[in-house]
Amino acid sequence: MASTAKPADCVIRGAGIIGLFCALEMAERGARVILVDPVWPPRGASWAAAGMIAPAFEAAGRSDVHSDVFDLCLESAGLWPEWSAHLTHLSGMDAGYDDTPSVVVATDEVEADRLKAIRDTLSSKSLPWRGIEVEALPGDAFSGLQLPTDTQVDNRKTLGALVVACEENKLITVAENSPANTAGAELITAGWQSNELLRSSLPIIPISGQMLSLERYDTDAAMPVRCGSVYIAPKSDRIIIGATMEPGTVRDRVDESDIAGLIGKAARLFPDLARRKVIESWAGVRPGTPDHAPYLGKVDELIYVAAGHHRNGILLAPMTAGIMADLILDGLYHLLLGSFSPLRGVAGTHDE
Ligand code: GLY
Repeated sequence: MASTAKPADCVIRGAGIIGLFCALEMAERGARVILVDPVWPPRGASWAAAGMIAPAFEAAGRSDVHSDVFDLCLESAGLWPEWSAHLTHLSGMDAGYDDTPSVVVATDEVEADRLKAIRDTLSSKSLPWRGIEVEALPGDAFSGLQLPTDTQVDNRKTLGALVVACEENKLITVAENSPANTAGAELITAGWQSNELLRSSLPIIPISGQMLSLERYDTDAAMPVRCGSVYIAPKSDRIIIGATMEPGTVRDRVDESDIAGLIGKAARLFPDLARRKVIESWAGVRPGTPDHAPYLGKVDELIYVAAGHHRNGILLAPMTAGIMADLILDGLYHLLLGSFSPLRGVAGTHDE
């Protein structure tokens, strides 16, 4: 931790992946940034996440998700390869991006309808997908798609590289507490806790998620696989299985029966997973919003927010950083910004 005598152009409050990306983007455009968080290096939702970069699975053809979220997610997913390479260049560390296309499979009619909606949406936008032959599907799945739009990162590697990149950037100061006075802008990026720092109140609620990691063998396939609420994400040194959705809860430890339930669902596709050693199980808290879309924009004179990224914080970090830097530093409004205004009316529920 350090302190600074110089006034900052922007104080960013919350050093999760959104705050870190925003800090780096702004500093690389020449702004002086103070990044405030009592916890450093960061933990929280960005650490707990599984690193899914899944625009199609999370947002394509979903009536319960804000209609512009898919475009936002898609554009952000497209920025990930370059951002990952840039973070590696800055930090000398692997930033964790893996471009292996995801597979999504169905084991019941509800899941099959979801696959059809994804396929139809991708086709309507001339985006790629590939049907998987029944014989090649895992376990009791009867339908499946390969989605080149949907990939993953090892978010813990990304955070490690981001921390080094921010610490080495001379325009970024990391601080435990906010400076008493700053003439510049303030950006709140504190996830589900953002309302505590805002004078206005946004409908952001905590949504806990539990997950686990299993040992990985060299012979395991590299692609992330999704089925309904469960995903299996092979990282270089472990396999992550997630995740529960528990709206309104702030969980700090796992429930062993929920963890067993996740393993059971994954083992319906890959029975061998039930026999693997569990490396770690943990819980994180997502910032949920009723329309599953983030709040991006100005809430008051010089006060901005970028929070409520629901299940897509890792995926949306690059786009969020670009949009917020444009807005705060240059007064430029991205075309999608109107859709995600913190002042928008929201309908819907906080359910998955
Ligand atoms: N991004 C997946 C999740 O929130 O569980």
